[in-house]
Amino acid sequence: MISDQSKGASRTTRYLDALLERHFKELKFGEVTRALRALSADYVEKREAGGLIRALEGRGKRAAFALYYGVTHFLATEALVREFDLGFTGSGRPTILDLGCGTGVCGAAWALGSADATSVVGADRSSFVLHEARWTYQILRIKAETSRSITETLDAIRRPDGIAIGWTLNELDDERRDRIAARILPWVAKGSRLLVVEPVSKRVAPWWDEWTKRFPPDRCSVVEKKLRLDLPPKIALLARSAGLSTDAMVVRVLLAPGPGEPPRRTPFSPVA
Ligand SMILES: C[S@@+](CC[C@H](N)C(=O)[O-])C[C@H]1O[C@@H](n2cnc3c(N)ncnc32)[C@H](O)[C@@H]1O
Repeated sequence: MISDQSKGASRTTRYLDALLERHFKELKFGEVTRALRALSADYVEKREAGGLIRALEGRGKRAAFALYYGVTHFLATEALVREFDLGFTGSGRPTILDLGCGTGVCGAAWALGSADATSVVGADRSSFVLHEARWTYQILRIKAETSRSITETLDAIRRPDGIAIGWTLNELDDERRDRIAARILPWVAKGSRLLVVEPVSKRVAPWWDEWTKRFPPDRCSVVEKKLRLDLPPKIALLARSAGLSTDAMVVRVLLAPGPGEPPRRTPFSPVA
């Protein structure tokens, strides 16, 4: 009998193959490499001007975003869901809300790490990434819907079973971050699982300690993880060619496990 985990692994492989084919169909490797280098520089330099998505002009940069950032975030989320046992098992169709879903990778990786069939709701303001997110959900055969507004989605949705916020809070202003915390806190207190991921950088996320402090320590943990990602060879080569590291990624994580499970206290532990 094929286990749920190996079914998830083969879907991941098919997804990564299809993603590479999709974006390299009309672009040469060198074009995407140059675009990734430019995109990463723009993202760092133009951070004040509205984050990564604002830096996404042109096909090359969009492909670079989906291939490099999409895949690293997908694999990182997959590793975190596994490490912290966040996957859904049992019955019902749990809902995973993915705020700032980008190309859909965090919610999708969580769905794949679950034995249950899930429903994902991805919210993002960018129509380009929402188009890519719908493709991600479709190729992975995940039931999903998308929305153009985080605020409207938070107002409309019933308490989700899981909430993913990956690499997005740093693109929002204090008021939006506060609004998100105020809305999701009661959900987490009632048992919703939570996975918030941000880069380890005081410059990128100076608000991290204050923001995470309001989440109750008997339900939530704040950890740092060093993740070794098994990138597909072509993406690893793309990253190296663009001068980006492929060895490991260090992230900060705020997480709430399933109800009845104790929070993890590991302050820092590398994933092998
Ligand atoms: C760095 S990307 C991360 C995307 C995805 N979660 C991932 O891990 O790859 C940040 C995302 O936040 C979205 N975003 C930024 N500000 C937003 C806002 N005010 N409302 C909705 N989405 C927003 C951007 O469009 C972008 O897709």
